[in-house]
Amino acid sequence: MIYITRRETFAASHRLYRPELSDEENYKLFGKCSNPNGHGHNYTIEITVAGEVDPYTGFVLDLKKLKEIIQNEIIIHVDHKNLNVDTQFMKGIIPTSENICIALWKQLEDKIPNGKLFSIKLYETENNYFEYRG
Ligand code: NI
Repeated sequence: MIYITRRETFAASHRLYRPELSDEENYKLFGKCSNPNGHGHNYTIEITVAGEVDPYTGFVLDLKKLKEIIQNEIIIHVDHKNLNVDTQFMKGIIPTSENICIALWKQLEDKIPNGKLFSIKLYETENNYFEYRG
């Protein structure tokens, strides 16, 4: 089994909050990420696909193809967007890194033509990342 990974970056804004709570209560729960007017992050994602090497091409999955799929299924929906309001697949979901990973997985899972989606890593800052394996 070979694991291939494509890294991409995007910039997006979000606000972590529960609408039924006051700003103060949201601050207690979510800290600075609940600031009422939102804030941005430069996100990095790493998408890993696992599969067997196709003996004809020598590829698991052509990385150009993987790049294109990530672009169309993810990047155009999140880059320079507000995840709370602009991104259809995040509607009604608190845009924590955990939930973003799961939503990205759902976006990509069925779209990988060769091999299988193995993991999605998301870095919100340099020092921590979140990983989802379905
Ligand atoms: Ni944040």
